[in-house]
Formats: sequence, structure tokens, C-alpha cells
Amino acid sequence: MPSNLPSPDAATPRREPQFVRVAETQREPLRFFLDGQEVTALHGDTLLTAVLMQQRRVRESEFSGAPRAGFCLIGACQDCWMRTEDGLRLRACSTLVAEGMRVVTRLATGVATVTNGDAQ
Ligand code: FES
Repeated sequence: MPSNLPSPDAATPRREPQFVRVAETQREPLRFFLDGQEVTALHGDTLLTAVLMQQRRVRESEFSGAPRAGFCLIGACQDCWMRTEDGLRLRACSTLVAEGMRVVTRLATGVATVTNGDAQ
């Protein structure tokens, strides 16, 4: 099975956070993997919060290649779709980050994705 990790020569997004945590800093930490790199979040963070605490995008538009970082934050706009390394599509603003979760912001070319068990 081909890897969904981006190729090593793919452009690397800047690792400058979009969000800054100003409250609830005492929640228990967890680790997850973002584009193959181990990073930390706090239990109760949405995937969107966890990723944007690390960088300024959750994915690149499949149409324009422009960086996307979510818009509505309530599950309505479809701007925050991300994928796990095994191709499952997740809405980052309504998915809690979990210990050991492995997500990617870019897909390797030609790799199928899975939404609710259906390959796309
Ligand atoms: S940010 Fe709008 S659906 Fe997630």
C-alpha cells in the first residue's frame, strides 16, 4: 500500500503557528503525528486547533494549491478537511485529536482517499 505521506521533495509548509493558546493550558498533553513529525496537543483539542497550534494550514486546496486553515470552525464550510496517513478524510474542526493520530496536510500523488469507508 502506498504511503499517504508527502514526498520528501514536496514543499514544506512553514512551521509557524496560526493559533496561540491563552487558556486551559493545564489539560493533559498528548502526542500525534503531523506529516510524519511527532508534535504535541492537549486532550480536548480539536484536530483543527491541534494543527493550527503547529502551523498556519491544515491542507492545500485540491483546486488551487492555496493553503487552507478552516473558516467557520463549526462544521459547515468544508474548508478544514484533512486526511489520515491511511486515507481517511476528517473534518478537523469537529474531530478531537487523539493520542497517536497520524494526519497529513498534503497527499502523495495518485493515492486514493477514504470517506466513511468509501474509496475516492
Ligand atoms: S472550519 Fe468549516 S467545516 Fe471545519
